[in-house]
Amino acid sequence: AAPALQGAGSVKQQISNLVALSLRATVPEVDVEPIVEVCTGKFGDYQCNNAMGLWSKVKGSGTSFKNPNAIGQAIAKNLPACDVIESASVAGPGFVNIVLSKSWVAKRIQDMLVNGITTWAPILPVKRVVLDFSSPNIAKEMHVGHLRSTIIGDTLARMFEFSNVEVLRRNHVGDWGTQFGMLIEFLFEKFPNWEELGSQAIGDLQVFYKASKQRFDEDAEFKDRAQQAVVRLQGGEEKYRAAWKKICEISRNEFDQVYKLLDVQLEEKGESFYNPYIPQVLEKLSSQGLIEESEGARVIFIQGHQIPLIVVKRDGGFNYASTDLAALWYRLNVEKAEWIIYVTDVGQQQHFDMFFKAARMAGWLPDPKEKKFPKTSHVGFGLVLGADGKRFRTRSTEVVRLGDLLDEAKSRSKIVDWTDEELEQTSKAVGYGAVKYADLKNNRLTNYTFSFDQMLSDKGNTAVYLQYAHARICSIIRKSNMDVEELKVSGNISLAHPDERVLGLYLIRYAEIVEEACTNLLPSVLCEYLYNLSEMFTRFYTNCQVVGSPEEPSRLLLCEATAVVMRQCFQLLGITPVYKL
Ligand code: ARG
Repeated sequence: AAPALQGAGSVKQQISNLVALSLRATVPEVDVEPIVEVCTGKFGDYQCNNAMGLWSKVKGSGTSFKNPNAIGQAIAKNLPACDVIESASVAGPGFVNIVLSKSWVAKRIQDMLVNGITTWAPILPVKRVVLDFSSPNIAKEMHVGHLRSTIIGDTLARMFEFSNVEVLRRNHVGDWGTQFGMLIEFLFEKFPNWEELGSQAIGDLQVFYKASKQRFDEDAEFKDRAQQAVVRLQGGEEKYRAAWKKICEISRNEFDQVYKLLDVQLEEKGESFYNPYIPQVLEKLSSQGLIEESEGARVIFIQGHQIPLIVVKRDGGFNYASTDLAALWYRLNVEKAEWIIYVTDVGQQQHFDMFFKAARMAGWLPDPKEKKFPKTSHVGFGLVLGADGKRFRTRSTEVVRLGDLLDEAKSRSKIVDWTDEELEQTSKAVGYGAVKYADLKNNRLTNYTFSFDQMLSDKGNTAVYLQYAHARICSIIRKSNMDVEELKVSGNISLAHPDERVLGLYLIRYAEIVEEACTNLLPSVLCEYLYNLSEMFTRFYTNCQVVGSPEEPSRLLLCEATAVVMRQCFQLLGITPVYKL
């Protein structure tokens, strides 16, 4: 087999490279980046929009061009001769419409079928990313907000990984802070034999948390002990460290069950991990004159914000912000990440805004206007709402138990009469896939309404519909007497019918879609692509007979390519595809 076409990048990237050559030939005196978009009109597949901007740069400088349209003509003419472009024409004030060669499109698809979809990885301008996601708090609830963070973060991680970017998947769990004093003392009081406790023995940690909080609020003597416990824990006293560890372990066990169900990989580096780095990081900021005294606390004043960022509380303790500063310092200097991405609800936007600005003031990060790395991004998302339009809850508890929720999705999706094993696997794939997709398909900033009925419907833009669409393609391939594996090598894709061409063009856009979703941190872009792809396939299948037609070999390959791309989308969305429904 031919070597994998590593490094070729997306189609848009390749067109941009050709346009860049043409621009250099057309206006050697000006240095501009190619502006290439997918064509919105029907005169081309991609378009180059450089002519108008170039005109305003060169006019009046004795240029021989008469107008932007003339520059467009020259750009079109100077495109290097190659097998990618069939023709180029100019429209309006100077839009250069580029038509791709059908045989090149067909070849690109066939190469992918032979060498694998990894050859369609986009090229991103970063090598290492820290993705801080999920990040629940020890002994507190892991609520649907954390579920959203987990699902969105995992998809972003998968998309970057597919694009050959190294991703440090970080679970920034809330495992440090004054609440541990009260939890530890309560543990000592309730379970004198706490050292021998198994991870299940405490029962419900959230109930345990509430009870200890109540004890803390009601009993001054207990409160006193709890506050002492914090000091002893932070001082590193053995017994207190051990108790803290025990509590974390119990929580971790619960979290891990959810991650296992969702098939999400995460490396825990909780708040406690960064605690030892805080003093030195604050020391540096202090010596730069960034930290001031204010009402007994130590703070950083930040332009554009009414309140300062508190980094040392009045009692001398560190907080969420000081931990995040230390963690960012660590991620930049020790882990050498170029892009640090945080996935939390939009409610935390102000915190991230402020601490990113503080990092810029310290010179850790360039001005975002420069569009340089390293950089930080907050991936915010909206609330999960119930049918009543209020924050999503179940009847019995205040928060939804994530495990129960996934179980319910699974049991509701039992659709057909199969063997038990098939049923178990399929309903899991369909049920969990539905929960993930319902979350990912929306623009993440909007609130979304959680509805089993909607997400498990087989109509409309749902995972179930897409699972059906994919399974149907698989069944078409099964029905044919031809061997797809053999066809991949010996057959030929032709894109003669207009609907074949449209489908083929959309397939090869896959890489630039992943690129866009990564660049803008928007999983919904990929969902939209997947949905459109299935619609385009339906149009193709309605108008082009596959099995039993003279074009069967070529069309079968198009079916296979569509199935492969759909499966890869599912993979990036963390959804297990189903081959038969
Ligand atoms: N534990 C926090 C919460 O539950 C989320 C942490 C997000 N990550 C961070 N580096 N601040 O809201």
